[in-house]
Amino acid sequence: MKNPFKFGTVVEEEFFTDRQEELQYICRVMDSENHLALISPRRFGKSSLVLKAVKQLKRPYILLNMQSITSTKDLSNRILESVLKLYPMKNLKVLLRNFRIVPTISTNPMTDSIEVSFNPFSKENNDMILEDVLQLVNEVSTEKKRIILIFDEFQEIKEIEKDLDKKLRGILQLQDKINCIFLGSQESMMEEIFNDKKSPFYHFGLIMQLKRIPEDEFFQFLNERFSKITTQSESISREILHVTHCHPYYTQQLAFQVWDAIQYQKIANDVVSQAIEQLIQMHDLDFERFWINLNKTDRNTMMLLAQGKSPMMQRDTSTSTSFSSLKRLTRNGYAIKTDTYEIEDPFFQRWIQQNLLQPKI
Ligand SMILES: Nc1ncnc2c1ncn2[C@@H]1O[C@H](COP(=O)(O)OP(=O)(O)O)[C@@H](O)[C@H]1O
Ligand SMILES: [Mg+2]
Repeated sequence: MKNPFKFGTVVEEEFFTDRQEELQYICRVMDSENHLALISPRRFGKSSLVLKAVKQLKRPYILLNMQSITSTKDLSNRILESVLKLYPMKNLKVLLRNFRIVPTISTNPMTDSIEVSFNPFSKENNDMILEDVLQLVNEVSTEKKRIILIFDEFQEIKEIEKDLDKKLRGILQLQDKINCIFLGSQESMMEEIFNDKKSPFYHFGLIMQLKRIPEDEFFQFLNERFSKITTQSESISREILHVTHCHPYYTQQLAFQVWDAIQYQKIANDVVSQAIEQLIQMHDLDFERFWINLNKTDRNTMMLLAQGKSPMMQRDTSTSTSFSSLKRLTRNGYAIKTDTYEIEDPFFQRWIQQNLLQPKI
C-alpha cells in the first residue's frame, strides 16, 4: 500500500483535505470582477488551494512564480510564453502584429517548449513590452472565460526591479478581462503591499488570510487513512495534530513518518513519539545550521518560544528588542504569527528543547 501522505509540493486529489469554504470563496471572487490577495505563512497550502480553485472554475490561467523571475523582461517573456501555450498560434498572429517590438518565437518540438525573445531589446523598451504582453492577455481573454493571472510569492516583486510594482499596477488597472490572484508568504510584506496607502497595490484586491486546516477536518483526513492500517488510528491522529497544531505541511510530514513506522518499520508502541525522533534526527544537521546562523538575541527569543513563554514579557530584554527579533524571525521563516508568535517548525522546537534546554549530562 502506498503511503497516503504527501508534503513539500502542491497537493491535489486524495492528498488534499477539502477546505470547502475557502475554495468557494475564491471561486466567487474569481467569478466577479475583482482581484484577490491570499496571505499566510509559508506552507499553509496557498498554492494547492488556488490551483484547485482555478481547475474547478475550468478557466484558463497563467501561473507566475515571482521567486523565479529575474527582471521585467523575464516577466514579459514568461507571460507571453504562457499565452502561446494556452492559445493556438494562428489565432494570435494578428494580435502579435500590434506589438510595438516584435517578438521572436521559437518552439522546440522535442520538449514541446516555447521560447520568446524581443529584438532588438533595450532597457527603455521594457515597460512597453510588458504593456503589450498584458494587453494581449486581455485581448485573448473573453467575458465568459476570463483569464486568471496567478502571481505566486508575489512579495518578491520588490526584489525583482525597482518600481516594477508601480508599472505592473499601472498596466493591470487598465485591463478589464483579467482576474488576478496574488499569493504571498511573508505576511508583513504582503500586508504592506496591499494595505499601505503609499503602495501601488493599495486595496487592489480583496485580502484573504489562509488559516491552518480546522482540527476536525484534518482529524477526519488522518483517521480515514490510518484506520486502514491500525486499530489505534483515532489516538494516533489526535496525537499528530497535537504536535503539529494542524499546520498543513508538518502534519502531512509527521503523518507520512508515522504511517511508514507502522506499515514498514512495524513499530507498535509509542509510534508518534518514535516518528518525531526520527524526523528530528533526519534534520539534525539543518537544525544545527539554522541555530548557528541566528544571532544571540534571536536565539534567546527562540528559546523562550520553545518553552511557550512570551518574549515580550521578559524583564531583562527591552520590548522593542524582543519585537524586532520576533519580526526578524518571522520574516526569515523561523517563527510564525497567528494569535501569538510561535516557532514555525514543531520539530525544530523539539530539537531546541532537547539540545539546549535540557542539556545532556
Ligand atoms: N488542503 C490541504 N490538505 C492537506 N494537506 C495540505 C493542504 N494544503 C497544503 N497541504 C500540505 O502543505 C504543503 C504545502 O502546501 P503549498 O500549497 O505548497 O503551500 P504554500 O503555497 O502556502 O507554501 C503540501 O505539500 C501539503 O503537505
Ligand atoms: Mg506556494
